[in-house]
Amino acid sequence: MSQDTPGSTATAAATSQQGDALENLLHEDRKFAPSADFAANAVVGAEVYAEADADRPAFWAKQARELLTWNKDFTQALDWSNPPFAKWFVGGQVNAAYNALDRHVENGLGDRVAIYFEGEPGDSRAYTYAELTEEVKKAANAFESLGVAKGDRVAVYLPMIPEAVITMLACARIGAVHSVVFGGFSSDALLSRIEDAQAKLVVTADGTYRRGKPSALKSAVDQALAADGHSVQNVVVVKRNGQDVDWHEGRDHWWADTVEAASPEHTAVGHDSEHPLFILYTSGTTGKPKGILHTTGGFLTQTAYTHKAVFDLHPETDVYWCTADIGWVTGHSYVAYAPLINGATQVMYEGTPDSPHQGRWWEIVEKYKVSILYTAPTAIRTFMKWGRDIPDKYDLSSLRVLGSVGEPINPEAWMWYRDVIGGNKAPIVDTWWQTETGAQMIAPLPGVTETKPGSAQVALPGIAVDVVDENGASVPNGHGGFLVIREPWPAMLRGIWGDPERFKETYWSRFETMYFAGDGAKKDEDGDIWLLGRVDDVMNISGHRLSTTEIESALVSHPAVAEAAVVGAADETTGQAVVAFVILRGDAVDSGDEIVQDLRNHVGKEIGPIAKPKIVLVVPELPKTRSGKIMRRLLKDVAEGRDTGDATTLADNTVMAQIAASLKK
Ligand code: WT7
Repeated sequence: MSQDTPGSTATAAATSQQGDALENLLHEDRKFAPSADFAANAVVGAEVYAEADADRPAFWAKQARELLTWNKDFTQALDWSNPPFAKWFVGGQVNAAYNALDRHVENGLGDRVAIYFEGEPGDSRAYTYAELTEEVKKAANAFESLGVAKGDRVAVYLPMIPEAVITMLACARIGAVHSVVFGGFSSDALLSRIEDAQAKLVVTADGTYRRGKPSALKSAVDQALAADGHSVQNVVVVKRNGQDVDWHEGRDHWWADTVEAASPEHTAVGHDSEHPLFILYTSGTTGKPKGILHTTGGFLTQTAYTHKAVFDLHPETDVYWCTADIGWVTGHSYVAYAPLINGATQVMYEGTPDSPHQGRWWEIVEKYKVSILYTAPTAIRTFMKWGRDIPDKYDLSSLRVLGSVGEPINPEAWMWYRDVIGGNKAPIVDTWWQTETGAQMIAPLPGVTETKPGSAQVALPGIAVDVVDENGASVPNGHGGFLVIREPWPAMLRGIWGDPERFKETYWSRFETMYFAGDGAKKDEDGDIWLLGRVDDVMNISGHRLSTTEIESALVSHPAVAEAAVVGAADETTGQAVVAFVILRGDAVDSGDEIVQDLRNHVGKEIGPIAKPKIVLVVPELPKTRSGKIMRRLLKDVAEGRDTGDATTLADNTVMAQIAASLKK
């Protein structure tokens, strides 16, 4: 139990630390069945599970043909002859942008609103499907005229504005591979992603608005591209907040002069079902982010199916709003692709929930009569903190389905969401998935599943999820272990960009024939699944994945730091918070607050503001095993204010006492 090796700590963590809290959860006996009304009008019923179980590939092939329009039909649903490299819908050809846009216009839906955009300062614009199609065609022509061809990579560093979706779909249309980098990442982080993918074009904006103030973006691109020998030839710049920008003649082009000026005629051709659609970088357990690769046919099929089934989407009447930024996978699957593939009307909001006031989200729900809201537990807990009198001022009666994603939702937040936001009638769908899975994997079906506050419930139809022990054996109900996926699924990652070995090693080596998700989970007495958080050195801050190792390397790159250890400590609002323990170099002075601020800013510069440690503790030593591995588990105990557990495997067992003494000072 006390060893800090991956296998045993994971189960130890799953059953001890989080286990206590979980014991309470598992005695949760509140259950919420769908109303008869909801069930009667639901898009899918209980029969889908049996249908999918009977023949998974055939089930997905049926969805692929129903949900997408193929330029060329596929001949085989799944080729799994070379695991873990899957091919879905083999031989098929499909165009993502045509499916998201043109075909809806051809089907007479050109006047339906695709996107209601709400800017932070209060400006708004609506795009119909016809208008959005035209914009994407222009962008496709503009990117092609800048030399972007099928297979080339395009880095996207944009705020939450419609041009972000237009850019992604324009890339997909011409077969270019987008790599969206979250606007909260620093120029260093941007450059390393540009270099890893060898991007030819960068699409950015002058800046955006953050809490009423202009916030720059292009300056980070300029800083990144000041490096020698990068691959970028052109930068397209959207004018969003009008702030001053430096200009690099020949390299930089205003969106208005390139995209807006381009021809609105562009014919979409089919791309192979396995053609790369995008790369999205995510943190792993090493210092180097992984470029998660997704391809076309399988990704579109599973995102569209789950969007329809899990949110009970009625595209003629629903107004859908997913609050995720396009910089994360949720903003890819459930903002840029699935809603448009399904012909839905969606809201897109640029800013923060408290700008200009703490009722902004609820004002938006009321204004657009949002019926499906998809957000993260950290947001819900923030609203709980602000108090129910704020949402109570707005008419939220249009809401009929509430989604949650990104981290486990605690039953208290679940109940508040249901009661205060959903008026005790809208079902909650807690959806478990990952950047790597591409689409939702575990979630209730709102017209079918009886839900329990805090449980993500069951695998979706066509998805083979299990909880196993260290030997890969399925655990019985009432037990915990590792979350795995036993069978390939359509939206699964196809690899890590440029690194097939790391792909195998990271996901397919812990258990030979199963995908290891990195999460701990427990099956309750009914077999329903409860997620327990990561079992590796990956943190989850406000639903965003951060690597302890990546932040540690950022810290040790500071001249004053000799060693650093980072842990994710439980935090009431953000789920986890970054806590850093650092040993200063002999010649560095412990200037108290000053060095702490300096180190936080340094991490902000190296990775981005989201990675800044909440707390930096200067300590004399770090707890290590005899083989030199830092025992983060003990540091987590300290950070969360617990007595430290078993420390007998420490190389020097006085270390914890030294740390405790230094923190009392
Ligand atoms: C990790 C994936 C999926 C899009 C956003 C995050 C955690 C995600 C849930 C949930 C409990 C969840 C897991 C997972 N996670 N959804 N409903 N309940 N945990 O994507 O950055 O790839 O992170 O987020 O730990 O492994 P991501």
